[in-house]
Amino acid sequence: MYRINPHYAKLTGSYLFSTVAQKQHAFQDAHPEVEVIRLSIGDVTQPLAPAVIAALHEGVDEMSRAETFKGYAPDLGYAFLRETIVEHDYKARGCHVEADEVFVSDGAKCDCGNIQELFVPESRIAVCDPVYPVYVDSNVMAGRTGVCDPKTGRYEGVIYMPCTRENGFKPEFPKETPDLIYLCFPNNPIGGVLTKEELQGWVDYALRVGAIILYDSAYEAFIGEEGIPHSIYECEGARGCAIEFRSFSKTAGFTGLRLGYTVIPKDLKELHDMWARRHGTKYNGAPYIVQKAGAAVYTPEGQRQIFETIGYYKRNAQVILDGVRAAGYYAVGGTNSPYVWYAVPEGMTSWGYFDYLLEKAGVVCTPGSGFGPSGEGYVRLTAFGDYQKTVEAVERIRRLGA
Ligand SMILES: Cc1ncc(COP(=O)(O)O)c(C=O)c1O
Repeated sequence: MYRINPHYAKLTGSYLFSTVAQKQHAFQDAHPEVEVIRLSIGDVTQPLAPAVIAALHEGVDEMSRAETFKGYAPDLGYAFLRETIVEHDYKARGCHVEADEVFVSDGAKCDCGNIQELFVPESRIAVCDPVYPVYVDSNVMAGRTGVCDPKTGRYEGVIYMPCTRENGFKPEFPKETPDLIYLCFPNNPIGGVLTKEELQGWVDYALRVGAIILYDSAYEAFIGEEGIPHSIYECEGARGCAIEFRSFSKTAGFTGLRLGYTVIPKDLKELHDMWARRHGTKYNGAPYIVQKAGAAVYTPEGQRQIFETIGYYKRNAQVILDGVRAAGYYAVGGTNSPYVWYAVPEGMTSWGYFDYLLEKAGVVCTPGSGFGPSGEGYVRLTAFGDYQKTVEAVERIRRLGA
């Protein structure tokens, strides 16, 4: 008789964005005359760079000829892509990462969700609160947590590191010692960053307590300020305690194409070899044409084109940040990040404000409480929309007032 994994039953509600979408559709069905503007899910809207499109076409043509046809990709990904990644994302920033430490995948979500398999079930995880839900939910599914306390919104056994207005929305070293520390900077959902010194502090802490940092830098391309690390390997000692996740989704608009990579330094030899073994056993690689398109991102024209698009989104972020502040809201993020995080009016909950904004302004936001209990009282807006629609949404928010 089969038995199902009981840990799935501990998951609270549906995935945040499914609930947001359900509410949006219910509202749109009831009010077909309203042009709803979605500044909720962090999905890109601008087309792929011409250099990427050209590489995709070329890749398709190669697949049509026996001499250039490609079957299964190498386990870790094509060397041409891994070597390009190392040159541009690491060597150029003075980081020591080697091509056989880069594992190409179909995106950071899968890697962030799957990485916990390498660790014992008793591992204590520490997460920021609020947090990208995948880190917590994947550990819940694996049985690494107890149940979620409906009063606090916290899973038993998880170490939460609140990121609130009082601490500048930055995590502090937890009182209990974790084995695995999930950090994401530039942060989703708050949009904040850590300075090099602050991140070095986390690396030193992890080395001291024997923890591994699982560092998600899916939004590094949005960093505009000096002194903000793009990679954790800019910090001394990180090769001995950190795994890094990267994604082409927000950097180059690959959310529908799917490409990412994970770096595990050989200093963490067991973990490196285990992830290689896992890749070989459970994964058959990102498609050749997508990896070829990924390499095109790093060509001079690819770089120019993707930074033009990132500039477009950063302009949206500035419009949102300035607009919600002008409307009287307390807002952060939006500078080195595509997300703006702002406090809802006194006395309202995140979901209450979500409904209010949808009904009164036809704008869809993401309720902060969906990212963790410390997100209560906030909402997140994304800069990945169309510029004109973003301007219109902000104008509607401004008309509503705080
Ligand atoms: C922090 C963070 N990591 C990872 C991802 C997923 O990236 P990918 O599209 O490469 O799976 C997202 C997507 O929104 C994200 O916000």
